[in-house]
Amino acid sequence: MCQSLACGLMAIEVRTARDDERQALHRLSQQAFAARPAPYEEADDRSTTPLDRRLVACEDGRIVGKLAVWEMGQWFGGRRVPMGGVAGVAVEPFARGRGVASALLREALQAMRERGETISTLFPMNHRLYRRHGWEVAGAHPESRLDLGALQALPAPRRRATIRPAEPADLPALRRLHEEVWRDEPGSLWHGPEFARRRMLPYEGHQDVYVAEREGRVVGFVTVARGDAPDDRGFYTLTVRTYAAIDLDAELELFRLLSSYHPVAEVATVVLHQSAATPLYLGERMLRPTGLGWCWMTRLVDARGAVAARGYREDVDVEVHLDVHDDSAPWNAGAYVLRVKDGHGSLEPGGRGQVRVGIGPLAALYTGWANPRRLRRLGLLDGADEAELAALEGAFGGRTPWLQEFF
Ligand SMILES: CC(C)(COP(=O)(O)OP(=O)(O)OC[C@H]1O[C@@H](n2cnc3c(N)ncnc32)[C@H](O)[C@@H]1OP(=O)(O)O)[C@@H](O)C(=O)NCCC(=O)NCCS
Repeated sequence: MCQSLACGLMAIEVRTARDDERQALHRLSQQAFAARPAPYEEADDRSTTPLDRRLVACEDGRIVGKLAVWEMGQWFGGRRVPMGGVAGVAVEPFARGRGVASALLREALQAMRERGETISTLFPMNHRLYRRHGWEVAGAHPESRLDLGALQALPAPRRRATIRPAEPADLPALRRLHEEVWRDEPGSLWHGPEFARRRMLPYEGHQDVYVAEREGRVVGFVTVARGDAPDDRGFYTLTVRTYAAIDLDAELELFRLLSSYHPVAEVATVVLHQSAATPLYLGERMLRPTGLGWCWMTRLVDARGAVAARGYREDVDVEVHLDVHDDSAPWNAGAYVLRVKDGHGSLEPGGRGQVRVGIGPLAALYTGWANPRRLRRLGLLDGADEAELAALEGAFGGRTPWLQEFF
């Protein structure tokens, strides 16, 4: 894959990354995101996105921008929607403001479409760049700060589990458990093989992973990383990068493990949904939103494929005539009839094109994040009458979509 464009005086070439470019990509990442650049570690680098999922933008033969797309999925309506997780978008400071990131995103979109990744999700540092290319805010990442001292008040699990470090052979069981626990939470992540290894296996100096086992069965796991204590509370803070627990006892066992870090660590950052059991046992002063909670943005890469891939409520039976606008992915644009029936959805070309919507707001509707009435009030959904608003709400509305993992 390759895309060239004249950008100012220089031509920008976008292509997949090569093996001899690993260090240059690392340096660019550090330049963009790190206060103190970390040294390049080959084994660490080889465990992230494969090279054919990394794009570079070159100017005059020199790399000036890059991004990566993880193989992922997201659960909506109990079904897994293939998703490309965009991460690490960075452009050299001297090359910014000339369309380099835009060229990378356009190429990424084409590549995701070819691979059948019907949606794409990312954590934005700036919304403008991504909104311009059709991503829209589409769900929550409710990060909380947990007082580790308070965890000592948690009740002991009734059925105890043993805790041990995770090993590479655990990976299939950890992936199965993660899927079983999170598949009914709207927006939750399905880990592709590389991201699963990255999040569910220990990396010396980067993260530890502990497995809870009961009667020979894996019933929970947690991935924790240590970071600087921001306000001199303890020697370090913990970040829970991911976890899954099959039931309340397993969850209590994992949180007992976290409490054992106290008082060397006093706080942990963790993404806990209301549906988690632990908040029921803790006062809200022990578990506070960090103020760093992110929203994620989603793009419908292939709107028809995306509508067909997710699940819907069995009792919904609706039809809405849409007119979809999409400047950067013209294959999505045009009039469609949206039908949802018997738990399945389809977007067929044609119809009256009554309800006009941009591809971004449509993504926010699709995940269940945006309410159609609110979109209409904001001028982001035109031409819908009461019946159509109710139909769209019935098709996509429900519990708030959220993501536990940051990427
Ligand atoms: C963000 C970044 C990747 C943008 O790269 P770029 O090549 O300058 O972006 P483009 O020239 O293609 O800009 C496209 C649009 O995004 C907007 N944009 C770009 N950077 C922006 C920023 N930092 N804040 C707000 N808007 C920004 C541009 O104004 C432009 O919109 P417009 O055409 O409506 O004016 C680059 O500034 C960077 O590497 N920053 C540091 C790392 C970072 O923040 N990465 C994003 C992680 S999610």
